[in-house]
Amino acid sequence: MPDLPTSMRVVHVPQPGGPEALVLAHWPVPECGADEVLIKVAAAGVNRADVLQRRGHYPSPKGAPPNPGLEVAGTVAAVGGNVSEFKTGDAACALLQGGGYSEYCAVNVAQVLPVPATLSLIEAASLPEAYFTVWSNLFEFGRLQPGERLLVHGGSSGIGISAIQLATALGCTVYTTVGSDEKARFCEQLGAARAINYKSQDFVSEIATLTDNQGVDVVLDMIGGSYLPRNLQVLAPQGRLVMIATQGGAKGEVDVLRIMQYRLVVTGSTLRPRPVEFKRQIKTKLLQQVWPLLASGRIRPIVDKVFALADVAAAHAYMESSAHKGKIVLQL
Ligand SMILES: NC(=O)c1ccc[n+]([C@@H]2O[C@H](COP(=O)([O-])OP(=O)(O)OC[C@H]3O[C@@H](n4cnc5c(N)ncnc54)[C@H](OP(=O)(O)O)[C@@H]3O)[C@@H](O)[C@H]2O)c1
Repeated sequence: MPDLPTSMRVVHVPQPGGPEALVLAHWPVPECGADEVLIKVAAAGVNRADVLQRRGHYPSPKGAPPNPGLEVAGTVAAVGGNVSEFKTGDAACALLQGGGYSEYCAVNVAQVLPVPATLSLIEAASLPEAYFTVWSNLFEFGRLQPGERLLVHGGSSGIGISAIQLATALGCTVYTTVGSDEKARFCEQLGAARAINYKSQDFVSEIATLTDNQGVDVVLDMIGGSYLPRNLQVLAPQGRLVMIATQGGAKGEVDVLRIMQYRLVVTGSTLRPRPVEFKRQIKTKLLQQVWPLLASGRIRPIVDKVFALADVAAAHAYMESSAHKGKIVLQL
């Protein structure tokens, strides 16, 4: 590998805790395996899962780098012997199992995508985690179809902005919940047919009014237990509830009769531990269905704020304040 340094700056978490638990260190640059691409990282996306990891609740899977960071964009610094899709110098972005808060990342080529020519590396770093998650949960597990109605909780989150834009672009009517009127206006500008402020309005009665009592076909949920009964209430017959997080607890009450009478499907997933082969399949779908929409500007990355790697604690504190609308990105 020509001209590669032997050590690199990383952010890691020696002891779980608050944002101050994120510590800069120097680690060896990873080796590039035969099926891997080594990326010189220009920018790394910050995700809610990184906050959970920092607090000690969401460790990297076995074999993955132990430090946080689920997505990066940068320049290809080396490719493994089995890789023909990328070459040194290409701009690339990647979904990781961990280790994105680092100057270099080695990642299986199945999880690496080109950077659309119209986007900066900072914008590209904000894409992989949200679009892998949104595509697999809405269109694979949730079987969302054009013309259907979707409710996305947390519309201004990294996941929310991606789900609203993509489902709208693919012909769905999207409703969303948010925690402020300002966030509601932001989501409606992104394409949401209506954004419901969950702090001042009941989303069940709002959805009933908005849909003429017909309900929605799919709910993409990141709240979990506390929303479970109401999520089942807003679903139309044969509706699908797809759960991706438990911000409101992991346990809730289920009306089994409702599931039976409405023939509902209740499902969910976690992306990070899924095998490389699954991620390869989602990458193929993203290249076919989503990357052209990004290249044409029909959907766009929304980066709320960029922090230097050394200011990573401030980036986490900002995410925990929930003041952001869209993605937070670290610049290396
Ligand atoms: N399962 C998976 O594979 C997977 C993958 C990626 C992400 N996720 C999950 O998806 C969620 C979003 O991730 P992110 O990185 O995009 O985080 P983020 O930007 O920090 O978003 C968290 C969102 O949750 C919203 N929220 C909190 N309580 C709410 C409530 N009661 N009702 C409606 N919305 C509420 C917040 O909105 P307000 O500030 O307006 O309250 C905020 O927009 C996280 O929970 C994350 O763990 C799961």
